[in-house]
Parts: sequence; C-alpha cells; structure tokens
Amino acid sequence: MLAHLALCLLGLVAAGGDGGHGHGHGKGKGPKKPASKPNIVLFITDDQDVGTHTREIMPRTFERLVDHGVNYENFFTPVSLCCPSRVSLLRTQAAHNHNITFVELPHGGWQKFNDYGYVSHTLPDFLQAVGYNTYYVGKYMNDHTVKNCVELPVSGFNASDILVDPYTYDYWRPAFSVNNGPAEIHNGSYSTDLVGEKSLRHLDTALAADEPFFIGIAPIGPHSYMDSSKRESSARLYMDTPEWPERHAHMFMDAKVPRTENFNPDEPMGVSWVKTLPKLNESNVEYIDEFYRGRLRSLQSVDELVGQVMDKLEAAGVMENTYVFYTADNGFAMGSHRRQPGKTLGYEDDIKVPLVIRGPGMPEGKTDTVSSYGMVDLSRTFLDLAGAKPDYEDDGTKINLHLGEGNKADRTYEKHRHSLSEYWLRGIEEGKFVEASYRDNNTYRTLRVHDEVAGQPVTYSYAVWCTGERELYDLVEDPYQVRNLLAGLNDVGPFAAFDAGDVPEDRQRLLHRLDALTLVLKTCKGESCVEPYGALFPQGRVSTLQQAMNRKYDEFFAALPKVHFDHCMLGFQNRLELPEWDNAWAYKK
Ligand SMILES: *[C@@H]1O[C@H](CO)[C@@H](O)[C@H](O)[C@H]1NC(C)=O
Ligand SMILES: *[C@@H]1O[C@H](CO)[C@@H](O)[C@H](O)[C@H]1NC(C)=O
Ligand SMILES: *[C@@H]1O[C@H](CO)[C@@H](O)[C@H](O)[C@H]1NC(C)=O
Ligand SMILES: *[C@@H]1O[C@H](CO)[C@@H](O)[C@H](O)[C@H]1NC(C)=O
Ligand SMILES: *[C@@H]1O[C@H](CO)[C@@H](O)[C@H](O)[C@H]1NC(C)=O
Repeated sequence: MLAHLALCLLGLVAAGGDGGHGHGHGKGKGPKKPASKPNIVLFITDDQDVGTHTREIMPRTFERLVDHGVNYENFFTPVSLCCPSRVSLLRTQAAHNHNITFVELPHGGWQKFNDYGYVSHTLPDFLQAVGYNTYYVGKYMNDHTVKNCVELPVSGFNASDILVDPYTYDYWRPAFSVNNGPAEIHNGSYSTDLVGEKSLRHLDTALAADEPFFIGIAPIGPHSYMDSSKRESSARLYMDTPEWPERHAHMFMDAKVPRTENFNPDEPMGVSWVKTLPKLNESNVEYIDEFYRGRLRSLQSVDELVGQVMDKLEAAGVMENTYVFYTADNGFAMGSHRRQPGKTLGYEDDIKVPLVIRGPGMPEGKTDTVSSYGMVDLSRTFLDLAGAKPDYEDDGTKINLHLGEGNKADRTYEKHRHSLSEYWLRGIEEGKFVEASYRDNNTYRTLRVHDEVAGQPVTYSYAVWCTGERELYDLVEDPYQVRNLLAGLNDVGPFAAFDAGDVPEDRQRLLHRLDALTLVLKTCKGESCVEPYGALFPQGRVSTLQQAMNRKYDEFFAALPKVHFDHCMLGFQNRLELPEWDNAWAYKK
C-alpha cells in the first residue's frame, strides 16, 4: 500500500502544465467523416436537481442543447446516490439487479464493482466491441482511490482521466488517474476547468480518427465540497458549500433556495426520519442559501464546458452524425421538508434530473412531457444507437428520440410512463449543520407514474418504506409533496399489516394499481422493467394506467398481496422485501 502511495506521489504534476495541442489534428479539419455509426457525447453532472436546470442558471446549455434538441421533463435516477446510479448507466441494469447500492464497501463502490466481476462488462466495453473509440473524463465511481486506481483499472476506454478519492470532490485539488496510471494531483487547479481541458484534448483525438466515438464528460459540479485532507469519521462526512473559480464569484449574489410550499414548513412532513426533523433556524437557512449560491456558481464552469465542447463539435462539422446528451446522476434537495442539503430520498428533488438530447433527426426546442425514463434507458439508448449489446440481459428501453412520423420503432417507446427509484441504505445529510451525516431507516421504493386517466394527465408518486409507512402524492395537485394522501395508514405503527380500510374508495383503487406496479418493478428484470403491465396482464390487455383503472380489474388488483418490508436493514436483502412477484398472480381471464 505504501508503494502505491509513493507511486501516486511520484505522479504528482504541476497544475495546468499539460495544455498542449501537439498532435496536429483537431478543429477545422477538412473532410467530414463518412456517414457511419453516430458519435455519442455524454455530459453527466453530479447531484444536479432539475430545479437548477434553467436557462438563467445554464444559458449555454439551453442555447446549445435545449434549443436544438429535446428536453425530457420526466427523467429519473434509479437510486438517489452517485455510485449506484452511475453503475446503472454503466451496466444498463436496475440497482436491484446490479446490487451496487452504496458508495463504499460492503454495499457498493469500485471495489465491490470489481468483486462482482463487472469490469470489462460495461457500456464502453460494449461500444468498443462494435468499433467505437471511447473516452472518459471526470468522476467515474466512488471508492476509486489513489490507493486502488492502478491495481483496479477501469475498462473499455481508449483513454481515460478518472477523478480519484479522496480528491474527487476537492474542487481545488483534484487528482486524476490517467489511463489507469497512478494519481496525478493538481493542487490549485479548478476541477471542472481541468475536466474541460482534458475533454477538449480527447475530443481532438476522437475527431482525428475514422471510427465513431463515445466520450463521457463527468464534472463534479455542483456536488458538495469535500476537503481531501480531512478524514471522514464514521459518523460525520465533511461536506460543505461547493467551490467556484474567481471569475464566477460575482454571480448569483442574491440567489436563494426557492421558497416553495415545502420549504422549511411549520409542521413536519414526510415519513421515517424526515418527519422528525426540526424546523431550520435562521442561521441554518442563511447557510443553505449560501450553499445554493455555491451550487449555482460551481455549475458555471460546467455550462462553459458545454459551450466549448459544442464549439469544437460544430467546428469539426460532425453535428449531423453526433448525439449529445446532458444529464446528472441524481438530484439534490435543501430546505424542502426541513432538510439539510442532501439527496438519498425519493422526493422529486432527489430523483428528478435533467435530460437533454440533441442529435440528427431530432426536433429542435421540443419538450417531451409525455414519457418517463431512467438511467437504464439512457444507457440502452447509447447501446441502440451504436448497435451494441451487453453480454447479459439488460433492463432498459430506448428513449423516444422523436425522430419523426416515419420512424415507427421510435414511436413505440412513448408508452413508457413509469420509473422506480430504489434505496436500501443510510440516508445522507450534508453541510455544516448536520450532527450525524447518516440516517437509518432509509430503505424504500418510490414509484413515479406519469400517465393519462380519463383524458387528463395524472402524475403520482407512491412510496413504500421499510418502516411500514406509505406515501402517495398527487403531483398535479401537490407538486411539492406536502399532502401525503396515505398519511392515515401510517398512524397504525411499524410494519403493521396492510389495511386500506380508512382510505377513500377512489384512492384505494389507485393505491392497489400503483402497489401492483411496484410489486412487479421491485424485482423486475429485462422486459418486465420496461413493460410491467405485461407481467400483470400477460394477454396484453392493459398497457396504461388508464386501462388498468377500469373497474373490471378492481378485484384483481385488490387481491394482489401488497408490497412491504419485514424490517429495516442495510443493503438489498431480497428476503426482507415481501412478497416477490410471482407470475402465477397474473390476470387470468
Ligand atoms: C446484495 O448485497 C448485499 C450487501 O449489500 C448482500 O447482503 C446481498 O446478499 C446481495 N444480494 C444479492 C441478491 O446478491
Ligand atoms: C480503441 O480501443 C479498441 C479496443 O482496444 C481498439 O480496437 C481500437 O483500435 C482503439 N482505437 C484507437 C484509435 O486506438
Ligand atoms: C497546495 O497549494 C497551496 C497554495 O499554493 C499551498 O499552500 C499548499 O501547501 C499546497 N498543498 C500541497 C499538499 O501541496
Ligand atoms: C441553529 O441550529 C443549529 C443546529 O441545527 C445550532 O447549531 C445553532 O446554534 C442554531 N443557531 C441559532 C442562532 O439558534
Ligand atoms: C426505525 O424504524 C423503526 C420502526 O418504525 C423504529 O422502531 C426505529 O426506532 C427506527 N430507527 C431509527 C434510528 O429511526
């Protein structure tokens, strides 16, 4: 281990000393590539909730991507935590199928990813196998460290610059493992700007080659700052306001966390540990407002980077064969439901993230308000565009790229109206006001359904917790999730037998449908993740919530066993998550 540290220190390089463009290829080069498989450019930010995905905050991203592509309003993280979500992207699998559920051992992180044998079986590997050159810059996975970066290399990239712990979130002292080499520490360089320089260099290489390329660009903005020199104690994570470069210091001086209906309410809200949170005092509110300004400023370098990458792609003349994607690994909340800064819950702030896609054949400036997708679908879209396949069954469906009327294959994906966010471990709170960083009893499934019933758009968030509690929010009426329509069920005590008797009849009918979808999705694999109604109705009678709401199915849905947990435990423990969907329960008639 000491030898590794020494290697890493030897690898220490001066900041900004490697900015050459020496290979003589790159922007403005003459002939365009022959039409071939499309290039794929992915921006993936860290902890960016959809509330910060606005034209005011991200002007270049909006001008260059949103205005020329499709903005997807309903895009969700499979797990509201970086590492599991990124694994879903790399593996095109729901978290209950890859079982990387936390940022470090024993439940997740880079070591566990290796232990499961996932290396060499990831998205970039599958893209390389069909002729892509692949590049990656920035945050890859938690627990990929200065100590293990050489012995546990990443797979599938022709070139990579991977941020390694404990420097990953140290904005002014990032360290990279370059092509799986020892960590190079850049003391005094701003992380996102370095990610930008490195990305542009890899793009030059990619553009000079004849093969199609994939590049993943993963800046840490707007993740919380973590000082690389402070050891984390088991109780406390030192996470604080994100940092920014001097050129953005003057921006957003008056910005404040939006004072939405759920902001620091007078009455506690939510379930489990959330309902025990005290009202935030004035100094705490001032702190989270400053924290918010830090997030917005840390996003400015990301926004500039988007502009620079688009400049390069356009100058190279490759936009008619390049799809550009912009997303984030998970969302972020602060102040809502009296919360400290953080993610790890199933509320909209935590699970809803930006997704923008721009590419050939796609409409310009369209908003997709109809479909719902998640990270596995994004991953599957890359595979489909490239004509690649994983060497195991994946759980995704191609996202509707709105390629036009003639494109039948594209239109079939519009029915995708659901998303499941899973969580099994400790909730994490961030910022200087938290006493302990971790919260127990944070295991839940949150189903998000966006569909139509009786010609009206409906949007529901339904959650089942390991504590026995349930939440149901009508997001059309209650977008900030302040009125849990199942609050009455939760007063009966922990792990109580399910009895919806007190719930009004209409709501019960809905509850039984949403619970059935959750029942299928919580252990789904492959097709049943894409088409959960298909598992419930093997004869194909029902494929929307509208159809499922038909009264003739009332008895069928009411009779299905309800999702519940035996008790709260750390890690995905299938035997505690009851019952497991059985095909024998499907609708027979
Ligand atoms: C998933 O990982 C947990 C540890 O986080 C382990 O206890 C469990 O057995 C694993 N489940 C499966 C199905 O591999
Ligand atoms: C990228 O890596 C793949 C797999 O190793 C290889 O086949 C391909 O030639 C490489 N591309 C370049 C430009 O070196
Ligand atoms: C990093 O740079 C700062 C400012 O130049 C300096 O004070 C500090 O000692 C350096 N830290 C390390 C670990 O080199
Ligand atoms: C606000 O609350 C925090 C704990 O959450 C406490 O440390 C601090 O002293 C309080 N400040 C004031 C002014 O009451
Ligand atoms: C977890 O939930 C159970 C059941 O509601 C409760 O008895 C226990 O006190 C909770 N633990 C914590 C740490 O909140």
